Amino acid sequence: MKLIRLTFLVLLLSCQVQSNYQPIPSETGPLGEQAMISSAHPLATKIGVDVLKNGGNAFDAALAVKFALAVVFPRAGNIGGGGFAVYRMSDGTIGSLDFREKAPGAARRDMYQDENGEVIPDISTTGHLAAGIPGSVDGILKLHAAHGTKPLNELIQPAINLAYYGFTITQDQADEFNEKREDFINVNGPDFFLVKNQPWQVNDTIKFTELAGTLTQIRDRGRDGFYGGIVADQIVKEMQRGGGLISEDDLKNYSSKWRDPLTGSYRGHKIISMPPPSSGGVAVLQLLQGAEQYDIAEMGHNSTKTIHLLTELERRVYADRATHLGDPDYFEVPVKMLLDPDYNKERFSTISLKKKTDSQEIKEGEVEVIESVETTHFSVIDPEGNAVSLTTTLNSFFGCKVYVKGAGFFLNNEMDDFSAKPGVPNQFGLVGGEANAIVPEKRMLSSMTPTIVEKDGKVKMVVGTPGGATIITSVFQVIMNVIDHGMGMQDAVNATRTHSQWLPDRILIEERPIDPNTLKGLEKLGHKIEPRKSMGRMGCILIREDGKLEGGADYTRGDNYAEGF
Ligand code: DON
Repeated sequence: MKLIRLTFLVLLLSCQVQSNYQPIPSETGPLGEQAMISSAHPLATKIGVDVLKNGGNAFDAALAVKFALAVVFPRAGNIGGGGFAVYRMSDGTIGSLDFREKAPGAARRDMYQDENGEVIPDISTTGHLAAGIPGSVDGILKLHAAHGTKPLNELIQPAINLAYYGFTITQDQADEFNEKREDFINVNGPDFFLVKNQPWQVNDTIKFTELAGTLTQIRDRGRDGFYGGIVADQIVKEMQRGGGLISEDDLKNYSSKWRDPLTGSYRGHKIISMPPPSSGGVAVLQLLQGAEQYDIAEMGHNSTKTIHLLTELERRVYADRATHLGDPDYFEVPVKMLLDPDYNKERFSTISLKKKTDSQEIKEGEVEVIESVETTHFSVIDPEGNAVSLTTTLNSFFGCKVYVKGAGFFLNNEMDDFSAKPGVPNQFGLVGGEANAIVPEKRMLSSMTPTIVEKDGKVKMVVGTPGGATIITSVFQVIMNVIDHGMGMQDAVNATRTHSQWLPDRILIEERPIDPNTLKGLEKLGHKIEPRKSMGRMGCILIREDGKLEGGADYTRGDNYAEGF
């Protein structure tokens, strides 16, 4: 692996043409006649598939998968975080639910700055002060109450059983527990149960017994089982222990919010995506408007020309994001303007296919960036044709690393998605200003992009992924992979991804097969290229022309798994 990495680095840095370039072999994902689920973990997918086989609908399955992921995928699947869901009912009704975390009532605009106004490193990412008020439990219960058909106790029980009786961990999970050992000790003490003397190994069994108790509270008392009673007490006590801000009132008053999804079009398809406080829908619709002006199919998949164009579009869209996007309940987000075709025509009119634009010319600033892939997305289509696209997150790996004592779950570090200070980048290198400043009870800006694609009045695709700032560009590419490049779902997911975001001014390219001539060409156009091990963990579904459902799961990048019937 190290050798492959080194070879890739050398290749990227020198852009020497290599003769051994092997394209990714084509492959079809699992097929289903009626239904499909694609999630970050086989156990979660299988629990959801069982719900569908037993007559539950997509919303029932979504609840079962969401709680199962909170157990078997603790680094991102969660009850201590938040997220967004976009859905389309079989009758064509669309909707979206915002269960994004909120800033605690005691949060302050400058809470991450020292007395000189400098941002204090790490406190918005690690430890109690980094946590926003969790939205996941309220959100998934609300979504299910509105559209589900099966009782909560039946749907949540498999997750309780997994937490109580345990499950075996994958290699990836063993690695991540080992990798975060120091953080776990620093935040939760040396006796923390995920800290062992010996390294975690694949197939070790893990039990989350306290979490089983919390899930049982939710099973028996619904929302109040989390936002009130013993679990709320435990969260507040945890905050007091570590100097966090979330209060009893913050928990009691948290409410997820129905929002009207954003819709746009792309080459005869309808695109349905998440509105603010996620930037995902706005950005992906802007990007698709830009791409539609070009013959992407003719330009070729991952060719120099195509990657150059995507980069130029992304540069402009992410600059817009930094200035204009935030929580619409606190800041007037100019969604209409940003999605106006005339605005975008003008915005993209300075793009040349022959020359790179300097990001500095678009707007000033210089930032560093750290990437991570610790969100999770799943997609569901049920036999009636209802579709749910849901992305949920703790933000970083295991969120702020604080494990609520007695309640058995990690809290998010979503506060880092606010702009701690205008122009100072967050952990994803994203900058912001007034639109995304910290205000008590405001929701922090997100990049999560749960999306549904419709063609001729029917669902065609359900897509989404983790990946911080790279979420938007991964969703953008997977849509083009299917619509422009004619790929099936698994091929579209497997394809090598690229990413750029205005600042820093460079293109990230996955350490996966890519034609060396493409890299050489990009360098000639003046682009700076940086390798990234991988970007995103997609969980997608395509309804093919022959009516079959094809799952696309990022099993080559993570533990993702799709199954249908
Ligand atoms: O909401 C957001 O945009 C981020 N909190 C998402 C973080 C993420 O995707 C991390 N890695 N996968």
